[in-house]
Amino acid sequence: MKAHVKTSLALGLALTSNIFLLGPSVLVGAQSISLDDIPSVNSSVVTNYVKARSEYIASEKEIRQDHAFRQKLSPVAIQANDIVAKIRQYEIDNVWRQPAPLGEEDSEMFAGMMFPKARATILETDLWKVVSRMPKGSLLHAHLSAMQPFDVMLQAVYDTEGMVISTSEALTTDIARDNAAITMRHVNTTVEAASVFLHEEGYVAETEIPFKQAAEAHPGGKDAFFAYLKSRLVLAPEESIRHDLGVDAIWRTFESLFGVSGNFLGYEPLLRTYYRNLLSGLVDDNISWVEIRHGWSPGLVPEGQEEDSPDLDFFWRVTVEEIARFQATEKGKDFWGVRFIWADLRGLNRTLIANNMINALEMKLAFPELISGYDLVQQEDLGAPLIELAPELIFFQEQASALNVTMPFFFHAGETLGDGNATDNNLFDALLFDSRRIGHGFSLHKHPQLLKDAIANHVMVEVCPISSEVLRLATDILHHPITAMINHGVATAISNDDASMMGQDAPGLSFDFYQVIQASDNLGLAGLGALAENSVTWSNFEDQGHLEWVKDIEAGVSGNGIKAMRLQQWHEQWESFCQWVVDEFGEQYS
Ligand SMILES: *[C@@H]1O[C@H](CO)[C@@H](O)[C@H](O)[C@H]1NC(C)=O
Ligand SMILES: *[C@@H]1O[C@H](CO)[C@@H](O)[C@H](O)[C@H]1NC(C)=O
Ligand SMILES: *[C@@H]1O[C@H](CO)[C@@H](O)[C@H](O)[C@H]1NC(C)=O
Ligand SMILES: *[C@@H]1O[C@H](CO)[C@@H](O)[C@H](O)[C@H]1NC(C)=O
Ligand SMILES: *[C@@H]1O[C@H](CO)[C@@H](O)[C@H](O)[C@H]1NC(C)=O
Ligand SMILES: *[C@@H]1O[C@H](CO)[C@@H](O)[C@H](O)[C@H]1NC(C)=O
Ligand SMILES: [Zn+2]
Repeated sequence: MKAHVKTSLALGLALTSNIFLLGPSVLVGAQSISLDDIPSVNSSVVTNYVKARSEYIASEKEIRQDHAFRQKLSPVAIQANDIVAKIRQYEIDNVWRQPAPLGEEDSEMFAGMMFPKARATILETDLWKVVSRMPKGSLLHAHLSAMQPFDVMLQAVYDTEGMVISTSEALTTDIARDNAAITMRHVNTTVEAASVFLHEEGYVAETEIPFKQAAEAHPGGKDAFFAYLKSRLVLAPEESIRHDLGVDAIWRTFESLFGVSGNFLGYEPLLRTYYRNLLSGLVDDNISWVEIRHGWSPGLVPEGQEEDSPDLDFFWRVTVEEIARFQATEKGKDFWGVRFIWADLRGLNRTLIANNMINALEMKLAFPELISGYDLVQQEDLGAPLIELAPELIFFQEQASALNVTMPFFFHAGETLGDGNATDNNLFDALLFDSRRIGHGFSLHKHPQLLKDAIANHVMVEVCPISSEVLRLATDILHHPITAMINHGVATAISNDDASMMGQDAPGLSFDFYQVIQASDNLGLAGLGALAENSVTWSNFEDQGHLEWVKDIEAGVSGNGIKAMRLQQWHEQWESFCQWVVDEFGEQYS
């Protein structure tokens, strides 16, 4: 600290010693110029300039996507917005702006810094209290196997009779520990107590060991075993901030996590535990509705058995049961519900994708309220671009229409650093195929025409801020294009993509909302409110043809369908939340 002060003092002295002051006036050419000629800040020439400048800034803000929402803020919401601006600024100055002492460079802090490094500090702020309490509306972009925090699931595996674990090699080296395939499953035969464990030289690949026993035999015991398994389920902070290694590298690790987390969705009692904790966690974060991406014909082992049910509907039946069960509880009674966007893997070959499309349509017929649309997932840069799948996508639309079912597209598109390559060009397909929303749209702001078309056609972008940070598209929230999109007038909402794998350790949206408000002085609480309102406006609550869908979006809160009703409910929550902000923080931050 001392050394810093010394340096800046020295610099200051050097600067002043170079300045020599002029007299009251100097002759420059034929002109006698005096500093007294500088107009007063209150002179009309300056005040006119300042006025024109303010009007210029205000007129640009009319283009913003949240402009209309801001125009309609209630007096309480305006007050809450002002208070939150003060909280944010106070914490930027007093919590975040922390120069690192010499020799401790890694402890440097600033507002909007990388999420993995900011997380612990976020939890200590008043802004966090505000954001976590806020009614968030809908979570529209999330992948089932990456939503529920894993501690609960590991404990559930531990507590479930008959669970065994095996690995594709002995966990004796760092490379093996980081890469071995891990299988957890239920068996109904008695597995003999093991004498050689996963971490030992003599372990024979794929030998199944009772999970409980494996946990206790692990060096360091159960806690160390869970910590190891979590390292195979969650992207480590030190890894996600290695921007020097690029996107493909982090995606390789990221995709390997799904192999491990898939285990929790494969056995009926675990799947039920997963849903119960997940839905309850979403409500804890004041989320009212969720649209989950999942698909590719998930198999499920019924309770007490060890083979997937031959019944393809089984997974979805359990899903429907758990949603209904939750909504019948006290905690779930105001929760609006869940729908699923069928998601195929874009890395599969075209025959398999077409095959799965037929599965998707079958499931749509069997579960018309649950299954709501279609998407392709996995790393967009490496999988088939949408243009290559155009024949299959057209086939899908034709079959859906022949079956008289509504299965609109909700494509991931433009989740890339590219410009003009196949991934970036997926955005054109998303708009041409009438995708109702775009997942990520990270490269959208580079396309003037597409920005216009997204606005004109009411296509909303599901922005996943922390996901983009952790997957190395943006170093931190300050480098994220979400502000550009909002400022250009594109409708956006905040989603969390893969919260439990991204180090959030919570299924909700609060961390993403926190990052976003930190990214911009233009946004504020009102901006977050508009983002939450958008999530409700663009929720796919019911099957609708394209025209009805657009009509309801345009009508918004004054429409007469389910959407308008949900928007009214959200507005009531928003007003009482704003009142809470005023009551709770008004005095302290007046
Ligand atoms: C300019 O006007 C403001 C407001 O009337 C006043 O507070 C301020 O002292 C004035 N400044 C100067 C330099 O006259
Ligand atoms: C054990 O699992 C097999 C295969 O799923 C099944 O056929 C059998 O009925 C199960 N046995 C018991 C006792 O549940
Ligand atoms: C697609 O993949 C499946 C499974 O790997 C394989 O059986 C099939 O031959 C492949 N089809 C084509 C056209 O490559
Ligand atoms: C298609 O389904 C809608 C309801 O989803 C129904 O009103 C309509 O009659 C159906 N049309 C045909 C041709 O089956
Ligand atoms: C597009 O460009 C980005 C940035 O160079 C790259 O990461 C990505 O892999 C590219 N996608 C394709 C399909 O080449
Ligand atoms: C949001 O969550 C808090 C804490 O769980 C709760 O007290 C509050 O009533 C919730 N607000 C809304 C609008 O649901
Ligand atoms: Zn996604």
